[in-house]
Amino acid sequence: MIFSDEIIKWYHTNKRDLPWRNTTNPYKIWISEIILQQTKVSQGLPYYINFIEEFPTITDLANASEDQVLKVWQGLGYYSRARNLHFTAKIIRDDFNSQFPTEYKLIRELRGIGDYTAAAISSFCYNLPYAVLDGNVSRVLSRYFAIETPIDSSTGKKIFKELSQKLINIENPAIHNQAIMEFGALMCTPKKTDCSICPLRNSCKSFGTELVELLPIKNKSLKITNKYFNYMIISSENHTYLQKRTSGIWNSLYQFPLIEGEFTEGQLVNTKQWKNLFIGDPIIEKISTKIKHKLSHQLIHTSFYHVKCDEINDADFLKINWSEIEKYPLPILIDKYIKSIILHK
Ligand code: ADE
Repeated sequence: MIFSDEIIKWYHTNKRDLPWRNTTNPYKIWISEIILQQTKVSQGLPYYINFIEEFPTITDLANASEDQVLKVWQGLGYYSRARNLHFTAKIIRDDFNSQFPTEYKLIRELRGIGDYTAAAISSFCYNLPYAVLDGNVSRVLSRYFAIETPIDSSTGKKIFKELSQKLINIENPAIHNQAIMEFGALMCTPKKTDCSICPLRNSCKSFGTELVELLPIKNKSLKITNKYFNYMIISSENHTYLQKRTSGIWNSLYQFPLIEGEFTEGQLVNTKQWKNLFIGDPIIEKISTKIKHKLSHQLIHTSFYHVKCDEINDADFLKINWSEIEKYPLPILIDKYIKSIILHK
C-alpha cells in the first residue's frame, strides 16, 4: 500500500473530531489554521470557538475594531497574526465582495497567508492539490524517508517541499493533508514515539533505529534574550494609566507605563524615566515578586510597582477607570497579574 493510502486509512479510524473538519467554509478554515500555527489543538480549540462566536463571518471580522480583535486573541501570542487577520478580512470585504478567493495564487497573496496556510485553505475548502508542509509533516517525512538534511536549511526546505508535493493524493488532497498532519500530531510524535503500533513501520526507513529520536534535524537553536520590565500600576482615585504599545511582539496591546531595565528599587527611582513620569510625590505602596514570563525567544523578568501619585506626566498615557481595564487587549502577563491582585483584595 502506498504512503498516502496508508495514512488515510489510519486517519479514518484515529482522527479527532474537530469543528474545522466539519466545514469547507474558507473563513473558518483560515481562522483555525492561523490559530493552530501558534498553539496545540487542545489550547487552540476554545479560542477558535470563541473567535467564530464573536465574528461569525468575514464581514463581522472586517467590521470589528482592532481592539476587539486583539481582545479575543488575548493570550494566544503572536499578535501580528491577529492584526493580519483583521487587515485581510477588510481586503476581502472591500476588494473581493466579502467572498474568499478560490484560487491558490490569490489566496497566497493575502497578507498573513504563507505557503502552509494557502495550501491548507486550497485543499480543505476547494480540494486543490497543494500539499501542506508544517512541523508535523516535516517530522513524518524526515523519519519515514530517513532524511538528515536540516528542515530549516534552504536545501532542506526545498527537499521537503518537493517531497510533500510529490506524495499528495491527487484524488483527495483534503483528506491527505489532514491525515498527514494528524499522523504527525498523534502517531509520529516529537517525543516518546511508539513505533510498535505504527502502520508505516514496515516501510519506514527510521524504524528500529536511533534516527527516530534524532529526526528531524534543525540547524537553528533559538537564542533566548533576557528582558527586564518594570510596570507602574499608578493609582490616583479610581483611575490608572495605560499606554498602547507601538512596537515589538505586543504591538497594539495596552500595558501599564513601562520602565525597562534591570534595576533595584533604589536605582529605579533615580532613573530619568521615573523622574520624568512622576510629577507629584510618588509613594511606592507595593512591589510584586519578580515574575518570569517565557516567550519563544525572550525571557521577561517583570516587576509590578504599585505607586500612588496624584500627578503624573500623562502625555503618552490613557487615563482609564479601573473598572474598564478588562476591555483593553492586554499581554497575558498583565492580565494574569491584574486578576491575581483582584482575587487577593
Ligand atoms: N494543526 C494545524 N492544522 C491542523 C488541523 N487542520 N487539524 C489538526 N491539527 C492541525
